[in-house]
Amino acid sequence: MPEKEDFFDREAEEEALRKILLSKPNLVNFIYGPINTGKTTLLTRILEDLPDEFRVFYFNFRGVEIRKYEDFVRAMFRAGKETFWDKIRSRSDSIGATLDWMEKVCGNFNEGFVLPANVIKTFVGEKKNSEKNRQDVFDYLYNLFKGIIKRGCKPVLVLDELQMLRELRKNGIALHDMFNFMVRLTKETHVAHCLAVTSDSLFIEEIYGNARLEGRSRNFLIDDLDKERSYDVYEAFGFQNKELVWNYIGGKPGDMIRLNSELILGSTEKEGLELMLTDERSRLENLLEKVQYRLFSEDKIAGTDVREILEVLSVCSDDAQMHKGKIKPMIRRLLIEENFLFLDPVTGTVRPQGQLIRKAMKSAKVY
Ligand SMILES: Nc1ncnc2c1ncn2[C@@H]1O[C@H](COP(=O)(O)OP(=O)(O)OP(=O)(O)O)[C@@H](O)[C@H]1O
Ligand SMILES: [Mg+2]
Repeated sequence: MPEKEDFFDREAEEEALRKILLSKPNLVNFIYGPINTGKTTLLTRILEDLPDEFRVFYFNFRGVEIRKYEDFVRAMFRAGKETFWDKIRSRSDSIGATLDWMEKVCGNFNEGFVLPANVIKTFVGEKKNSEKNRQDVFDYLYNLFKGIIKRGCKPVLVLDELQMLRELRKNGIALHDMFNFMVRLTKETHVAHCLAVTSDSLFIEEIYGNARLEGRSRNFLIDDLDKERSYDVYEAFGFQNKELVWNYIGGKPGDMIRLNSELILGSTEKEGLELMLTDERSRLENLLEKVQYRLFSEDKIAGTDVREILEVLSVCSDDAQMHKGKIKPMIRRLLIEENFLFLDPVTGTVRPQGQLIRKAMKSAKVY
């Protein structure tokens, strides 16, 4: 994560998001966009910079496998350090005691919920299979947030890589419980802001069509930078041949960072960019090879062949964006799942995930 002073131009998005956070919580905010556009970086920066009364609870589910209810509890809560007296008090199970304690151990920006161990135990049940021992996690959090408000603070719930909760089903909890909870916190009771972040465009599409969220959520796109803003950033990095850089990586912040580190390692601009393109090309060739030799599971690639995919790649690489209906669903799904195409469910269009991928797609071939 860059230091604050290294952070480059995201003023417009920053202002819009900040405005949302400073107003009354009304809608669930889904923050989406192609990979590596800086969603997490931008959000973290805004959240760390909110006025003092904000209490942010930020979760990043990247790399966390969450299938069961217990995995979910483990991902959401951490037991904090307690003194002997804290332990005695937290036995009382009262929200007030927990809030007193949280005031000591939590800051304005918190990764996860740090709670007394005793409270966490009530979510998973001390005795196995003992449903009645188990507190409803969402009810508890709702009351906790209300308590935070009563103490003059403003809670914010942020879930990054929300798609990781997709597999969560069994044991009486599922992703739709999380959606219900977020709607309850925002539109129904205005208790807390809820932000959910994801780059998984198929997941966003699923969410977009979710009746539970209809009229209760807002989608917020964090895209690659446009040419003007990118050139300013190139300037800040000291890139010399801006046209060349734009032609290879366009406005993707993650790629600018990568190019910068190639330069630090001693490459010229052209060499660095070629290296990055080669990586992208081999990722694409791997995919084509796997299709050609049927190395994917059949339900992922049934009815498609490598020629057809090559054709789609070539068409997509020429169009700024196209309606998703122009691509056969099976191929569309495969290319989105493998992070070559980005699907914007709001406009119903698809396009390459970025300029580097677009360039790799133009010259894709099979051997
Ligand atoms: N505005 C910015 N200023 C400086 N560096 C940035 C900025 N935005 C992104 N970066 C850098 O670009 C890289 C990608 O950013 P980040 O991980 O925030 O993107 P993301 O959109 O959350 O990615 P993903 O799609 O993988 O979730 C990181 O190395 C980050 O430090
Ligand atoms: Mg991210």
